[in-house]
Amino acid sequence: MSSKKEMPQIKKDKNGRSVWLVDGAPYIALAGEIHNSSSSSLQYMDEKVWPALRPLHMNTVILPVAWETIEPEEGKFDFSLPDGLIAAARREQVRLVILWFGLWKNGISTYIPGWAKKASSGTGARFFRARDAFGRPLDCISPFCTDAVTADAAAFRALMQHLAEVDTDRTVIAVQVENEMGILGADRDYCGAANRAFEQPIPQPVADWFGVRGNWQQAFGRDGAEMMMAWQYAGAVEQIASQGKSVYPLPMYVNAWLQQHPDRAGKYPCGGPIAKMRDVWRLAAPSIDCYAPDIYVNHYRDVCDEYAAAGNPLFIPEVRATKDSASFLFYAVGKHNALCFAPFGIEDLCGKRQDEADPSLLATLNIGAGAFDVSSAGERLAAAYDLIGNMQELIREAHAQGRIHAFLEYNDAGVTIPLEKYDAQISYTGASGSFFGGPGKRPDSAVAGGFIIEQSEDEFLICGTGFSVNFLPKPGVQAVTGILRKEEGRYRGGVWIPGRVLNGDEGYFIHLSDFPQVQRVWLYSYC
Ligand code: DGJ
Repeated sequence: MSSKKEMPQIKKDKNGRSVWLVDGAPYIALAGEIHNSSSSSLQYMDEKVWPALRPLHMNTVILPVAWETIEPEEGKFDFSLPDGLIAAARREQVRLVILWFGLWKNGISTYIPGWAKKASSGTGARFFRARDAFGRPLDCISPFCTDAVTADAAAFRALMQHLAEVDTDRTVIAVQVENEMGILGADRDYCGAANRAFEQPIPQPVADWFGVRGNWQQAFGRDGAEMMMAWQYAGAVEQIASQGKSVYPLPMYVNAWLQQHPDRAGKYPCGGPIAKMRDVWRLAAPSIDCYAPDIYVNHYRDVCDEYAAAGNPLFIPEVRATKDSASFLFYAVGKHNALCFAPFGIEDLCGKRQDEADPSLLATLNIGAGAFDVSSAGERLAAAYDLIGNMQELIREAHAQGRIHAFLEYNDAGVTIPLEKYDAQISYTGASGSFFGGPGKRPDSAVAGGFIIEQSEDEFLICGTGFSVNFLPKPGVQAVTGILRKEEGRYRGGVWIPGRVLNGDEGYFIHLSDFPQVQRVWLYSYC
């Protein structure tokens, strides 16, 4: 066993930016989340998952540890599964983020141990269930059930205690507490305890923070039920997370099934950490380090912007795994200095394309058909991870000095970015480029995305995929902007390894094709 390393932590740096310190140094998790059941078998992991992950240049794997696997009998713990996962991660030289599948996973309670499931039947049950408006039981233990929350907290504490003892080299660098919590199938929990709470005056911290009074409905009107559920789930999570942190204070976050069409709490999980509920979550769950979006919707860019606001670090534990993933990564890192980016079902990424996804499966999984279009996704993401992984320090410095400018195609043709000396006109061209008079962007091109780092007023790093850049003089400046030199190449540990000098036929335009890459460009002006 190696000697103890520094504890991972998420904190603010001296510029007020969130930073995830791993082994004492800033860390970006170039990650992937594996399918829910994969980590329940070490053999399956060895045969199917680890080999599929090796080509991807990931530094972090996000995987579930379910309550049912570590406490199969009440009070008797078996940590052989997490121990095996940690040993394998060390062998593969990746870090782990553990998903604690405790009481709640996607709004339901399917990962609790069998003995807990058996104790959940009937209104007087030890682990009583949430109920819908007609009093019918939901497939969800109520967050008002203090016995259940206490049992979950005890199991989670035992897991964290075990990690504190065995994981001295900090293979595990963060933990997600529960998964996509909230009530599904009703606009709130209607069990007896919930009904009583709904009529009570709102808790004092909520009244003080929001400057409102009365019961939940009087205080928050239409949002009252969701506010109450958010307060309740966040309070339960606080109990669970703080128990875990008291023995091993790893960074802890919660993830959200986003507010989305059909836009009604209960259709998406009611009470989960959606952006609108962030304040109430923060009030009730101070042990949580950040609020993370699971992004399967098309308006990815808006979600990133929303979750990177109000001092919350952008941490994406799940995103649709498609050929667009690489561009999404460039935006998350380039625009928001993201701490983590992780396509879901990552072990399938290098797999074959599945054209026809069953619509009912898509509805159940709450994802679009694009989630199954993995053609070339693995190669593209691997290239992007390799690229970002070797430029991390440059990116960090550029963020600190405000020299990085990110963009992502979003049903638009491009964007113009004002730089220190020039304006950079970005056109989303896809694989073909449109300036040779061709058909323009091919319909099967990936979404374009990338960033520009200003190394000096005349020198730029251009990174990403599927766009061209035209540098223009500032309006009113009577000069022509010329390309002094343009190199392709790659970074290795922050050092530029030049490839071809792109001149002649390749030199007229700056175009990054439909595959993630970086170019280094020097400009000059003439008149
Ligand atoms: C979101 C959940 O958090 C994941 O565990 C997984 O079920 C995906 N949805 C499937 O798309």
